[in-house]
Amino acid sequence: MIILDHNTGLITLHTRRTTYQMKADQHGVLLHTYYGSRIRGDLSRLIPYADRGFSPNPDEAAGDRTYSLDVLPQEYSGSGNGDYRLSSLALELPDGSCGADFRYTDCIIIHDKYELDGLPAFFGISDEAETLVITLEDTVAQVSVQLLYGVFEAYDLITRAVRVVNHGDRTIRILQAASLCLDLPSADLDLITFDGRHTYERVPHRAPLRPGVQSVGSLRGISSHQHNPFVVLCAPDAGEDHALCYGAMLLYSGNFQAAVERNQFDTARLTLGIHPDGFTWNLAPGETFCTPEAALICSPDGFGPMSRNFHRAIRDCLIRDPWAGRPKPVLVNSWETTYFDFDDSKLLALAKESAALGVELFVLDDGWFGHRNDDRGGLGDWWTNESKLPGGLAPFSRKLRELGMSLGLWIEPECVSEDSALYAAHPDWVLNPPGRPYVRGRDQLVLDFTRKEVRDAVFGMLRKTLDGVDLAYLKWDMNRCLTAPWSAALPPERQGEVSHRYVLGVYELLERFRKTWPNVLIEGCAGGGGRFDAGMLYYTPQIWCSDNTDAIDRLTIQYGTSFAYPPCTMGAHVASVPSCHTDRWASLAVRGTVAMSGAFGYELDLGALSPEEKAEVAQQVAEYKAVQDLIRNGDYYRLSRPDGPYTAWANVSRNQREALVSLVAGPAVAAPPFLFLKLQGLDPKLQYRINDEPELWPGDILMQAGYPLPLLREHTAIRLHLTAE
Ligand code: DGJ
Repeated sequence: MIILDHNTGLITLHTRRTTYQMKADQHGVLLHTYYGSRIRGDLSRLIPYADRGFSPNPDEAAGDRTYSLDVLPQEYSGSGNGDYRLSSLALELPDGSCGADFRYTDCIIIHDKYELDGLPAFFGISDEAETLVITLEDTVAQVSVQLLYGVFEAYDLITRAVRVVNHGDRTIRILQAASLCLDLPSADLDLITFDGRHTYERVPHRAPLRPGVQSVGSLRGISSHQHNPFVVLCAPDAGEDHALCYGAMLLYSGNFQAAVERNQFDTARLTLGIHPDGFTWNLAPGETFCTPEAALICSPDGFGPMSRNFHRAIRDCLIRDPWAGRPKPVLVNSWETTYFDFDDSKLLALAKESAALGVELFVLDDGWFGHRNDDRGGLGDWWTNESKLPGGLAPFSRKLRELGMSLGLWIEPECVSEDSALYAAHPDWVLNPPGRPYVRGRDQLVLDFTRKEVRDAVFGMLRKTLDGVDLAYLKWDMNRCLTAPWSAALPPERQGEVSHRYVLGVYELLERFRKTWPNVLIEGCAGGGGRFDAGMLYYTPQIWCSDNTDAIDRLTIQYGTSFAYPPCTMGAHVASVPSCHTDRWASLAVRGTVAMSGAFGYELDLGALSPEEKAEVAQQVAEYKAVQDLIRNGDYYRLSRPDGPYTAWANVSRNQREALVSLVAGPAVAAPPFLFLKLQGLDPKLQYRINDEPELWPGDILMQAGYPLPLLREHTAIRLHLTAE
């Protein structure tokens, strides 16, 4: 609910459990007065005013030394105006001066959620979401900003984006435009970031805010394996089910920065948006620049409710039809079985074995096109390699149908090998500054997706190749980062736009794919989880969570990922042992348990398994199909951290009548202690049957006292299926 009080100037956004409040003060500065548990009243009374040395006073203060933008909590901070904290917006004007100093002009409420042209955004209609637009103006720069707020009451979700409009008659340059600025009155907070590397992504790191700026971000052109565009600020004592926390997410798949400043008076400011390093945007008279969308969820009761609200919002209001809430096929992916070494008979043999065990989708990974026999060549030549697949993809897809399977295909549209026909014809289509030697990643270059003709060419090849093919799934991969992006199609003063235009180009082509093949499930991937962000989820309802298929490592990766993203979005496969990533062995039961907590599939030679193992796989597939609605649409509870005696989690149905509890034991210890697993999310008054145990368990006992675990042996799995009676 959005409440505008025209008498007091108070602007209040209420969600189910939280309140967000702003107020334009006597000088038109839009103050941020409160964000936290739901309350009523004018919170501007809490804002302290004092004469602070070396915090300057704007002209309007008329000598009032207690009024300084350096001290006041602001909704969208400027720059060069006496506020030395993190800027949200920085402009370079035609006279070379830099700054941004905005004052409130008006605000309006719009039914339904706003949309952003060419950018991903949460969606919702009037009974789910409403929009607030606040306009601020910098009269010197002749620029206005529209602060957009989407209020999704049921999810405690507040989305934000900013439109910058040039009303002057000369081009100005945007040097920075954050999507979100959040001033909080106390910096006694911890910052949690989700960091890692290729094959070990999104591991939570938590530390108290120290004085100064601390930030994470990406300058790699993709959101990156190294840092995720999602951070949490929380009370020092916050845990899964207690104390205040704020989650902030950017719906963006390129360079980003999340920065938090603990300033001189121990207040905190968070900014989140496109990374300002290397970014500039030329805004001609009359033009508008729109930032990517950011999303905030405040939870008064810890991380669990925050995550569950993000999960629900992503599932209901970000993932689009036809995949919202729809079952996804159990798949087998060829990559770790064949790599580049396959032909149709090898693939069909794998498909036949897989189909017999209940697997529904066969994903043909890298190597089916051009002369791609290793990762050094062929990328960009999107026609079928008929020496591997005689007659092309159409007969192959028909043969799969005869086995009762559908076809999925791997593609990597954004990159090109120098050893390819595409590169030979268009060497100027790669992103690289003139005269600079190439910097290669996986021996490949990045295509200039800022250019429509480049996207059109890639799209045209794929459309021709896929014509007449019975296709159910595409895996859109991206296996390197951008370096020194420079586009031959843009003038020198626009080169600072390339990284953002690249992301817009990726989104445009993804959207075209969605429209051309509306029933094809697209799985995102960037060497696993190098672009696992909410921006991609708008186009690709699931993302390959990590190239690391080791089940034990996946416990940590999926745990970290779950803080922001729902299990149904995490591609997760049972792979062979010992793991090709860690050389570690894990039982089929453990691998199945871990993979079942995501978008489930296999990535191993199922034909090479023993009869007992095949029976276990068939059992896993059947079990997954039986519980997948729970995993997809239920609520997710982290029951432990991944570094204790066990890692445990639960998927609980919305009506609390069914739950799947999964646990994988940690490293062995001698004489292990007796352990009781305290469940969450059940109805305390209901009685639950666990698997086929004769005895019923009251929900309150399971949650308050716990379920007695057997003595745990290293890396063994337990799955408990609870049904209320
Ligand atoms: C990286 C992906 O993450 C893998 O799953 C696989 O698709 C390879 N690329 C293929 O080149």
